[in-house]
Amino acid sequence: MIKPTAAETPAIKPRERIIVALDVDSAAAAREISNELSGAVGAFKIGLQLFTATGPAFVRELTESGTKIFLDLKFHDIPNTVAKAAVEAARLGVWMFNVHAFGGSEMMLQTIKEVDAVCETEEIIRPLIIAVTVLTSSTAETMSETGVGQGINDQVGSLAKLAANCGLDGVVASPQEVQTVRSIVDRPNFLTVTPGIRQTLATPDDQRRVTTFGQALANGSDYVVIGRPIVKAKDRIQAVEQIVADV
Ligand code: C5P
Repeated sequence: MIKPTAAETPAIKPRERIIVALDVDSAAAAREISNELSGAVGAFKIGLQLFTATGPAFVRELTESGTKIFLDLKFHDIPNTVAKAAVEAARLGVWMFNVHAFGGSEMMLQTIKEVDAVCETEEIIRPLIIAVTVLTSSTAETMSETGVGQGINDQVGSLAKLAANCGLDGVVASPQEVQTVRSIVDRPNFLTVTPGIRQTLATPDDQRRVTTFGQALANGSDYVVIGRPIVKAKDRIQAVEQIVADV
């Protein structure tokens, strides 16, 4: 069964599909952005920079205030290490976190098993666990220099299938590959979370596989991750409104 695309699922408003990447270097800067945009977007993402700067206390501060947090630490290690880190992510009360599908099935299966067990025993709402496929900054050259023998689309498809077979809730991919994921994964509620959103495709920063917000939703993205186009805007609310107006 082909899942209806995000654009065809009116229950979630387009702005609620936006996850703003809090890619800043302090809790104060992140607090300012989350206060300013709360209500204007669906969730916030804490990634490597902010987590390394502020640690888990700041994640907890936001989750305890009721903010939906995607903890984007892209866990990729041996199964035991990832599973134990994932359990701590769940204990922080995040809405979503991720692992690299490239870590393989044993890593993903053990992660789900341990997170499920802890969430049940400690009565924690089980976070969504999604898998990174191929980073949106990667190109065909990245595939070949890292020894991946197939093209990006096929690699995203292989990793999405693996993640789905392991029971993950979805994948991170570029909006350009959402249809590949949909055609390969026959699970109606399998989520696609897509960074690589640019309204002006001429300024992609380090992103390489980009589309506009409207195109991402038309392709079937469930959630989009947007950082610099919102965080670095002079007027962030206006930046969100302009992006939403694209739909
Ligand atoms: O500033 P920009 O909109 O490019 O930010 C995209 C965010 O999404 C960054 O925080 C980046 O780490 C994250 N991300 C990504 N590609 C992935 C996974 C996460 O760009 N495959």
